[in-house]
Amino acid sequence: MKLYTYLRIGLIFSVALVIFYFYSIKILNNKGDVNEEEESHKVTKQYEETTERIEFKRTDIVVAVVACGDRLLETLNMLKSALMFTKEKLNFIIFAEDALIESFNQKLEEWKLVTNNAFTFNVMTLTFPTKDADEWKSLFKPCAAQRLFLPNILKDVDSVLYMDTDTLFLTPVESIWTYFHKMNSSQMAALAPEHEDPNVGWYNRFAKHPFYGKLGVNSGVMLMNLTRMRAFQWSEYVVPIYRKYKLKITWGDQDIINIIFHYHPGKLYLYSCRYNFRPDHCMYMSVCKPAEKYGVAVIHGSRGFFHSEKQPVFQAIYRAFEEFQLGGDTFKDFYQPLETYLEQTQNTNCGHIKDVFLKNVQRFVDVDNQL
Ligand SMILES: *[C@@H]1O[C@H](CO)[C@@H](O)[C@H](O)[C@H]1NC(C)=O
Ligand SMILES: *[C@@H]1O[C@H](CO)[C@@H](O)[C@H](O)[C@H]1NC(C)=O
Repeated sequence: MKLYTYLRIGLIFSVALVIFYFYSIKILNNKGDVNEEEESHKVTKQYEETTERIEFKRTDIVVAVVACGDRLLETLNMLKSALMFTKEKLNFIIFAEDALIESFNQKLEEWKLVTNNAFTFNVMTLTFPTKDADEWKSLFKPCAAQRLFLPNILKDVDSVLYMDTDTLFLTPVESIWTYFHKMNSSQMAALAPEHEDPNVGWYNRFAKHPFYGKLGVNSGVMLMNLTRMRAFQWSEYVVPIYRKYKLKITWGDQDIINIIFHYHPGKLYLYSCRYNFRPDHCMYMSVCKPAEKYGVAVIHGSRGFFHSEKQPVFQAIYRAFEEFQLGGDTFKDFYQPLETYLEQTQNTNCGHIKDVFLKNVQRFVDVDNQL
């Protein structure tokens, strides 16, 4: 009897050892630097968490956005772009002004039908932490401030990819999500630089407050590890910083984020401009070199450029997404029109590098179906 017990313990121990051995090999293999090409194919499954307040069944990848005023269609376009290239089940959290909630619910229910439930979503009213509610309500405009309080509001959510409404995915969401696994244990967020070139940088030339690094960061596409931000007590920094700098702040929540990371640079992971490609990156000359090499992953029509004649490339890309109906053929109904629209922009500075906008998309539309 005793011998049998020893044998059993021995066996369990050996099995555990073998599992541990293979697991270590796997970890070591994963540690090696993957190049950007491979990385976007890698699927991440690490994020498993069930929440109470938010009813996700499988909360792998969460895309969060805050929509107010006339941003309904723009936001839907961003969410549509997220659904077009992903192979994962996505979860959307949309904080919306009351007047927009019904429209979001309607459209997203419709999309669930045509995509065979490819995603889950929660549309939430603008919400703020109850602690000191009156104080910061008097300090901030609700829509601009919402994102700063996500760690407190989404108490049961581990991490989100926060997107400005005026952004569009040109690559699967999961290829950006993989950056969570590149962060070291002190990094709680990832952002792209505000500028590439000090000669035209905004923060280094004009800001009257501290900012991250040499040129600041743009907050339009932000990976947020909410668990780590809560541990850091992120929200405790927001109100005092706002109070101290409010007369010197130009770009709202983005400036507050810059100030916090100025004092805690080790807590931010900086990814390349191709994850947040703005008109500034091509309107005078092409300054985002990684985009030339690997293609633009997220395009950000900041300052209204998706809707303005001034940057035809941005307008063309927005239009191609707007006209595409989910459930349609991404090659015929999206890629081909996009190519045509971009042809017409060739005589603009951004149009000179139009292929950087097609490079990623090409790999993820159903080109194979056409051959
Ligand atoms: C966020 O940070 C927590 C605490 O360090 C960690 O357990 C979790 O895996 C991180 N989430 C992601 C998506 O990396
Ligand atoms: C994480 O990386 C940042 C930036 O390179 C660095 O400042 C910080 O010390 C690192 N933290 C750990 C735990 O390695």
